[in-house]
Amino acid sequence: MARKTTHKIRLMKKKGKKIVMLTAYDAPTAAILSEMGVDMILVGDSVGNSLLGYESTIPVTLEDVIHHSAAVSRARPNCLIVGDMPFMSYKVSAQQALKNCGLMLQEGGAEAVKLEGGSEAVVDIVRSVVDAGIPVMGHIGLTPQSIYQLGGYRIQGRTADMAEMLVKQAVQLEEAGAFSMVIELVPSETAKLITETVKIPTIGIGAGPHCDGQVLVLWDMLGLFEDFKPKFVKKYANVRELIKNAVSEYSQDVRDGKFPDEAHSFEMTEEETGRLYGRTKPRDD
Ligand code: KIV
Repeated sequence: MARKTTHKIRLMKKKGKKIVMLTAYDAPTAAILSEMGVDMILVGDSVGNSLLGYESTIPVTLEDVIHHSAAVSRARPNCLIVGDMPFMSYKVSAQQALKNCGLMLQEGGAEAVKLEGGSEAVVDIVRSVVDAGIPVMGHIGLTPQSIYQLGGYRIQGRTADMAEMLVKQAVQLEEAGAFSMVIELVPSETAKLITETVKIPTIGIGAGPHCDGQVLVLWDMLGLFEDFKPKFVKKYANVRELIKNAVSEYSQDVRDGKFPDEAHSFEMTEEETGRLYGRTKPRDD
């Protein structure tokens, strides 16, 4: 299957084809997503909650995301790889953003970056990064890097005024050159209006069915976590139970001396065994 590019992703909206995006943080998972025809992989700063044990994405560093993005890119997936720019890695100045987004491509092997926020300051930074030849995906609505300012993981754009503000941000991001944007945790009506207003693809998460595509955090939809059950996540598997069952069976086998059995062990030839025992006395203990 041919590799996905930002150009192809934009064309999908024109052709009315839904875009499939999932997060991945490692090579084997990226290879599976590619084999299954996923359009885009987001190496999200959600790696912080999903894999690194943090409670939010705030502690995630540029080095963390680059490290995981490089692993994803080594799988050479056909999906477009989007590297998520973590907290404070791009908002200090346009120069900082250019340097760090450049590193995400050079060292992380990403083919595009995602920047959170729709303020005028972020829109200016998006423009600079796009001008430098780096494709940018915007991210509006709930922006997890601003949870302390937003007062937690709350639904955004619930009033007509707030929805209009989000539409304005979306238009500004489009004008700044973003090739697509994530819309997170907003009512379906708000996401629909944004999707109808901009020509670039919208990728929803907790934003209803009208977006041009959808993204989920892979480990949420695979059911790795017991306590995390937001309304917008549909569990497509129960990987937690699979892991628990496998670990339990393995532990029992080890304790019962059933593993490793002959099928999972290596043998010497009879001759070598004879020589070994002829020369070396077996230990009694
Ligand atoms: O980091 C991430 O996984 C994200 C998605 C929630 C869109 O930003």
